[in-house]
Amino acid sequence: MAQIREISREEMLKQSEIMRALSEKNAALDAPPLAFVDTYGCQQNESDSEKIRGMLINMGYEFTKDDNSADLIVINTCAVREHAEMRVLGNVGALVHTKKAKPDQKIALCGCMVQQEHVVEKIKKSFPQVDLVFGPHELYRFPELIDRLGKSNKRIFEIRKTDGERVEGLPVYRQDSVKAWLSVMYGCNNFCSYCIVPYVRGRERSREPELVLKEARELLSKGYKDITLLGQNVNSYGKDLGGKTDFSELLMELDRLPGEFVIRFMTSHPKDANLKLFRTMADCSKVENHIHLPFQAGNNRILRAMNRGYTKESYLSLIDLARSLMPDISITSDVIVGFPGETDEEFEDTFDVVNRVRFDMLFTFLYSRRKGTPAEKLHDPFTKEEKQCRFDRLIKLQNKISAEKQSSHVGRIERVLIDGETTQKNRREKHNLTSRTSEGRLVLLNGPASLIGRFLDVRITGFTTWSLYGETI
Ligand code: SAH
Ligand code: SF4
Ligand code: F3S
Repeated sequence: MAQIREISREEMLKQSEIMRALSEKNAALDAPPLAFVDTYGCQQNESDSEKIRGMLINMGYEFTKDDNSADLIVINTCAVREHAEMRVLGNVGALVHTKKAKPDQKIALCGCMVQQEHVVEKIKKSFPQVDLVFGPHELYRFPELIDRLGKSNKRIFEIRKTDGERVEGLPVYRQDSVKAWLSVMYGCNNFCSYCIVPYVRGRERSREPELVLKEARELLSKGYKDITLLGQNVNSYGKDLGGKTDFSELLMELDRLPGEFVIRFMTSHPKDANLKLFRTMADCSKVENHIHLPFQAGNNRILRAMNRGYTKESYLSLIDLARSLMPDISITSDVIVGFPGETDEEFEDTFDVVNRVRFDMLFTFLYSRRKGTPAEKLHDPFTKEEKQCRFDRLIKLQNKISAEKQSSHVGRIERVLIDGETTQKNRREKHNLTSRTSEGRLVLLNGPASLIGRFLDVRITGFTTWSLYGETI
């Protein structure tokens, strides 16, 4: 087992000292500098952005949502599919104009996408408006990099090849007051053949259970009611901690904390999901009655080529096992359509899994070639149109299943946590509050904002594919 490297206390103190000095400097200005933080990608990135915001506050920054007035723009990027990268580059391209209007504006790019050499080369050559580029492993050095940026006009590129370290003690600024992300581990060891994440996020590093529990206690004491444990593969939590704990044990410890709250987690990998996990979920009243268990493909040859470590049959048995212990469990999944060389016949197995499992929700992705992954080299004879055709068929099937599942809730009484207000888009539907069931289902309601943060029983009155409507009783 490789030794986990931890960033030392001295190093973290050094960064704190820089934050303090910058904060003093910024306090002497006529107005505090403004930062705009934009986040792409998964919850792990959202969670990293909360740390970026935490550090920015400690450096004396305030926030704006307007990139024109920002003194500093930080774009936290994702590399998982080409589409995500193109969106980032398009938006960075447009920043040429904001910078022209405000020449002292600084632009920083961080996150998964910039951990790739070819992307860094492209930014060096074609995006001169970018001043600072730092990889996910340099997050804790953000204060030092901002300090350097203020002292020189040189562009800064800080990307290091590493398996990654554990970092503790970064300040966190959470915008939400009911729901909180809590990272329990970083990195991934699975090397699914299509996926870039293990290359940009390093090896699996679990946080010490005591530190996870300490953070959970702090969140609960601040009034948070909905804690989502994060990791690329949460159920391999603890494998690098010498066998003293595992994910199920962690769930049990968290479940014992006093108060009414929900524990959610994502993502789980089928190869590490087992009876112990399902028993724990069934036994722990605060752990959500939901599992996100990506299956990616239904055909065994494709699953092997993806390096997923399970078969169609073992995946289906796992679902049966989960449902035998938790008959009402909500099961959601991710699937990739059009992995290189996947034939129409092989795709039928994916279709079959969706038909048999009847997922509560399914996130469907068209395969995207990622530079440096093993699948990049595979022959891919199928056209985009052929893949799109399969994709559309799958979405149609899932929409039908989702509608049937959603409609079965109408008339039932469900316990929800009211967790926020609806966005403008939903407001047109005349509901002002959002809430979630223990199964993770979104329920839209009407009521005073003072209900946010409360658990309530509601009657389900209607549905769409993505949400239920309810009324308080
Ligand atoms: N660690 C998680 C999620 C990783 S990324 C897991 O293993 O489940 C989220 C989803 O993006 C994956 O589940 C997969 O369905 C999809 N994905 C990852 N790489 C992809 C690629 N190259 N092309 C298309 N979809 C991809
Ligand atoms: Fe990517 Fe597979 Fe790791 Fe998920 S488990 S992050 S899909 S390599
Ligand atoms: Fe994207 Fe990185 Fe997450 S590649 S999906 S932001 S781990």
